[in-house]
Amino acid sequence: MTYFQCSPGGSLTGDFRVPGDKSISHRSIILSSIAEGDSRISGFLEGEDSLNTLKAFQAMGVSIERNAHQIVVHGVGLNGLKAPTAPLEMGNSGTAMRLLLGLLAGQSFDSVMTGDESLSSRPMNRVINPLQKMGAEIQSQPCGTAPLSVKGNRRLQAIEYDLPMASAQVKSCILLAGLYADGETVVREPSPTRDHSERMLRGFGCEVRSDGAEIRINGRQELNATDIEIPADISSAAFFMVAASIATKSEIKLLHVGVNPTRTGAIDILRLMGADVILSNQKEVGGEPVADITVRSARLKGIVIPEELVPLAIDEFPVLFIAAACAQGETVLSGAEELRVKESDRIQVMVDGLTTLGIRAIATDDGICIQGGVIRGGEVESHGDHRIAMAFSVASLCARGDIKINNCANVNTSFPGFVQLASAAGLGVTAYE
Ligand code: S3P
Repeated sequence: MTYFQCSPGGSLTGDFRVPGDKSISHRSIILSSIAEGDSRISGFLEGEDSLNTLKAFQAMGVSIERNAHQIVVHGVGLNGLKAPTAPLEMGNSGTAMRLLLGLLAGQSFDSVMTGDESLSSRPMNRVINPLQKMGAEIQSQPCGTAPLSVKGNRRLQAIEYDLPMASAQVKSCILLAGLYADGETVVREPSPTRDHSERMLRGFGCEVRSDGAEIRINGRQELNATDIEIPADISSAAFFMVAASIATKSEIKLLHVGVNPTRTGAIDILRLMGADVILSNQKEVGGEPVADITVRSARLKGIVIPEELVPLAIDEFPVLFIAAACAQGETVLSGAEELRVKESDRIQVMVDGLTTLGIRAIATDDGICIQGGVIRGGEVESHGDHRIAMAFSVASLCARGDIKINNCANVNTSFPGFVQLASAAGLGVTAYE
């Protein structure tokens, strides 16, 4: 069982590029597989989650070549996927399972998807329900969880669907099913969520119309192969943004980070807390905005987090809670009940860990209250959640004693090489088996 041992203190300096964006990596494999022709992908995240998506398409007959610099996907076209001979293993990845479910619902063959213990307890009715409205036939376990069985050869019909929660995974699932449906599918969002699917579909020549909260896609459109350059993942960069903010005498530059406005809530929240975060070298690469991000040490203060920023920072809250623990005063988060159904219950697991480390933190149904204070050493549980493990290793920068973090192997799902990069930047973290 991998655990992290973190020594207290340290400063962060240097220029770093964190690994590729996970959300965009999944989508790059999915869309290039069903496009006509060869697509070249650079900057792909070689993490377990996106590799599970890649292996699923190989299992459906897509030829994918990998070398150190790029991935070449030989697309088979919208109707060229083949029946997999075994269940598709999605590991820890909610994105892989939910996006693929939309795509599999439109295939001519039956399929089964499985996941690890965490993924097998996560809610899938949020994607099963709209797909059933489209005519899909899907079977789950009694409480709407994986394994999921999908019946092929169902003729899907377009739907108009109001998303019951702000979720890019549900939106993307429906758009992918919409590609295989008769007619025009319409999805409405309660508030903006990451729009990588829409942007990348357009990059493949597909017509996707966005008008405010509404996204429309016509079925049976052909996708044409294209080359994709994937920027560094802002969700991985966020650990270093918080680290450089809370550590003394720190200044780091994070290179070529994706700064799509549907993903930059963590920057807004950190700035509201008083962080010194500067974007430079801003440009657009392959339809996605990117920038270098410079972060210097700052005195942080507690805030009430604006609810409209929640979906735009949804994956960054574990490490933002560490920023709150190091800030002066109280930080209050509400409107974030989705955190309870991530890789772990991120509200409860963070409250438990922060309490162990001497910080006053109270869980609410949809958020948390954290009183900034002195972090002491201790042993915390990550519950196999990659972002919890990395967040508590950042906490060690302000801690008074060693922090041991249990069950950290899943850091490889999103951030292979985290320990090496964090150590090079100045964090005292070591992994032990
Ligand atoms: C993702 C969407 C978010 C996010 C997840 C990746 C995506 O999930 O938490 O890590 O790539 O679409 P929800 O759509 O459930 O909010």
